[in-house]
Amino acid sequence: MIRRTLFLNNSRCVCLFLSLVLSLLSLSSVTGLDNGLGLVPPMGWNSWNAFHCNIDESKIKSAAEIMISSLQQHGYKYLNLDDCWMSPNRTTTSGGEYQEDPNRFPSGMASLASYLHSNDLKFGLYTSAGTKTCQGLPGSLGYEQIDARTFASWGVDYLKYDNCYNTPKIPGIDRYTTMRNALNATGRPIFYSLCQWGGDNSWEWASGVGNMYRTTGDISPTWNSIRNNFWQSYRHINRAGKGQWLDPDMLEVGNGNLTFEESRSHFALWCFVKAPLLLGMDLLTLTEESRTIITNTNLIGINQDPAIPPATCFAQQCSKDDDWSVFVTSSSSSTFYVLIVNWKNLILELEVLIGQYFGINPMPNEVVQITNLYTNQIVGKYDFDAFKRIPIPTLQPHDSLAYQMKLVPKEEEEEGRVATL
Ligand code: GAL
Repeated sequence: MIRRTLFLNNSRCVCLFLSLVLSLLSLSSVTGLDNGLGLVPPMGWNSWNAFHCNIDESKIKSAAEIMISSLQQHGYKYLNLDDCWMSPNRTTTSGGEYQEDPNRFPSGMASLASYLHSNDLKFGLYTSAGTKTCQGLPGSLGYEQIDARTFASWGVDYLKYDNCYNTPKIPGIDRYTTMRNALNATGRPIFYSLCQWGGDNSWEWASGVGNMYRTTGDISPTWNSIRNNFWQSYRHINRAGKGQWLDPDMLEVGNGNLTFEESRSHFALWCFVKAPLLLGMDLLTLTEESRTIITNTNLIGINQDPAIPPATCFAQQCSKDDDWSVFVTSSSSSTFYVLIVNWKNLILELEVLIGQYFGINPMPNEVVQITNLYTNQIVGKYDFDAFKRIPIPTLQPHDSLAYQMKLVPKEEEEEGRVATL
């Protein structure tokens, strides 16, 4: 068990309040690629984390059926094929177009797209801004216009554009801009996701090029990887916004040996900083536990509400080596969302009074209503005195707590009380 005592003074509280108000004001000024897409982070499922190259029509159809029956209603709409959907050979008779792998996808991409569209899902494909994809299949470098036209003719709605086999070495900004222009020229709105692993200082140029850009290397289903990717991406949080989302990579909930606590913290972190919610598990073996995590409407609501800016880390605990962190965002000057994460593999008992932390100062006729976003239960309503005395609860290894804190009018019968969350 680790114990930490943190003393905060009033000026820091005021700072928090001001910085939240400022980030709300700045929401309207953050603009990215203007193709009408990516107004909120994308939600969907991608084949890579669960299957890698081992994909085929029947697996993808099974995943689609589960999306249609139980995930679409929560906002998951993109079904994205990652590497290995394509044939090793482009056509020789016409312009050298892509062809689907005839063994894995005998019915072809246009047919898959039309099946997905008829069920109100959207269709995503992958390729690379190099001569080959990362699995050694044909890439799009030099074929951008032809491939963009092929994708549009198949009904593609989303392109993940990787960074392997960049030979000869051409700067990322040039390769990714060429494909952006080719996609735009098709006239079909295609969400454009840059997968250049944070290379070439992409945060300096990628926002006008793609709707979203990778800020990290590949994620894997371990807490270390989740934590590393999160912090690496978080360095650029001030650049995240409409049409220019940061991508710390896809979700690993349901993969590897992640614990329940790790999985829910992973999902909550991605929701709070408005990262893409791209599921990566085998949907056929989705457990009830994972389903509960990925369908949490409170957290998805934070991720998808255009009025809520990406959460920012508060006070001193904001680096990869810290034991714990607090992230805060808000939808108005009276509604705050708070995520407290225990990064360590130890039970964490903090001597921190949460109410002194946030600079939320209820008026005499108001109380702070606190809702646990994991359980969707109102924990209590507290007047200022009671609010100031609430301690942060004990946190299990790698676990987290997510709350909404909302100022509401005080009702006659409500008296403040010393409370726990
Ligand atoms: C990596 C990429 C992964 C996956 C893989 C496919 O470069 O980061 O997300 O797409 O290639 O080969």
